[in-house]
Amino acid sequence: MILRVCCSLVLAGMFMLAPPSWAAADNTAASLIAQGAYLFRAAGCLGCHTNQKQHGKALAGGRALTTAFGTFYAPNITPDAQTGIGKWSEQEFTRALREGVGRSGEQLYPAFPYTAYSKLSTQDIHALWAYLRSVVPVEQRNKPHELKWYVSRPMVRMWKAVYFTPRAYQPDARKSAAWNRGAYLAQAAAHCGECHTPRNALGGSQRSLYYAGTRNGPENSVVPNITPDKKTGIGQWSANDLTSYLESGLMPNGDTAGSLMAEVIDNGLHYLNKDDLAAIAEYVVTLPALENALDKPGKKTPPKRKEEWE
Ligand code: HEC
Ligand code: HEC
Repeated sequence: MILRVCCSLVLAGMFMLAPPSWAAADNTAASLIAQGAYLFRAAGCLGCHTNQKQHGKALAGGRALTTAFGTFYAPNITPDAQTGIGKWSEQEFTRALREGVGRSGEQLYPAFPYTAYSKLSTQDIHALWAYLRSVVPVEQRNKPHELKWYVSRPMVRMWKAVYFTPRAYQPDARKSAAWNRGAYLAQAAAHCGECHTPRNALGGSQRSLYYAGTRNGPENSVVPNITPDKKTGIGQWSANDLTSYLESGLMPNGDTAGSLMAEVIDNGLHYLNKDDLAAIAEYVVTLPALENALDKPGKKTPPKRKEEWE
C-alpha cells in the first residue's frame, strides 16, 4: 500500500509538485491526478489537442486534422471557463468520451476517437477528469471546422447507429490478466485501431481487416499492417521487439518510427511503464494474421548515387 502511494507520488511529481506527506487528503487527490496523467499519455490526448507545429499552448486546441470529410480543428480542453471546458461537469465529460455527445447535447464528430474512449472504465475517466481539471487554463477560441458541404452533426447520429456502440471494455475471461490489460490499453486508450484498421467510404472501421493497415490513414499517411502476418505484417517481430518499438520507436531492422507513429510514441507510449507496453505487445502479437500488402512507410530509400552519402 505504502509502495503504491509512493509510486503514484513519483508519477505525480512528473506533472506537479508532490504535496507534503502529512497532507493525507491531498495524497489521494494527487494519486488520482497521477493516474489521470498516465492515462492521458496512453490515450494521446495531448497530440491532437495541442497545436505543436505552431508552438501552441498545451491542450488549447487548434491543431488541424485533415480527413476525407474535411479539416477538423481540435478544440480547447483546458479548464478555461470561456474558451475551454471550464464550465463542463464531470457527467458531461464522461458522456463526451463514452457516447460522443457534446455539452449542449450535440453529436461530436468521430474525428475525436470516442469510438475507442467509450471503452475506458468509469474509474479511468474519473481520473482523466481530475487530471484535466489540474492543468493550466488557457484562453484561446476554438477554430471552426472546415468540412465538406454534406457533413453535419445530425448526420453523425445515423453514422453512430451503424458504426458505434457505447460500451466499457469487457474483459475476456479466457485470456490472461496481462493480455486483458494490453487489449484494454490498445482498444480503449491508445486507439491503435483508429489508425491501423482501414475504413470504408463512410469512415466506418472495417472489422474484417482489424489492424491490417491502410493507405488512407489520418493526415494522408500510409499505416502499416501490424497483424502477425509473416509477409505483409509484423510476423517477424517478437513480442520484445514490439515492446521496445512502442517505447523508443526503434525497429528490429534499425530504422526508427516516422510520421504519426513517432508522435504517438514521443507524446504518449514512451511514458508508459514496461509492464503495460509488454501487455500491449502481448495482445497485438496474438491477433489473427491478415494478409494486406501496403507500401511499407518508414523505409529509407537508399540514395541513388554513392556520392550522396559519402
Ligand atoms: C485524433 C485526435 C484526437 C484525440 C487523440 C483526442 N481528441 Fe478530443 N477532440 C478531437 C476533435 C477533432 C474534437 C472536436 C469534435 C467535434 O467538434 O465534434 C474533440 C473534442 C473533444 C471534447 C469536446 C470539447 C468541446 O468543446 O466540445 C473533449 C472533452 C475532448 N475532445 C477530450 C479529449 C480527451 C480527454 C482525449 C484523450 C483521452 C482526447 N480528446 C483525444 C480530437 C481528438
Ligand atoms: C495516429 C495514428 C496511429 C496510432 C494511434 C497508432 N499508430 Fe502505429 N503507426 C502509424 C503510422 C503512420 C505508422 C508508420 C510509421 C512510419 O512511417 O515509420 C505506424 C507504425 C507502427 C508500427 C511499425 C510497423 C512496421 O512494419 O513498420 C507498429 C508496430 C505500430 N505502428 C504499432 C502500433 C500500436 C501497437 C499502436 C497502439 C498502441 C499504434 N501503432 C497506434 C499510425 C498510428
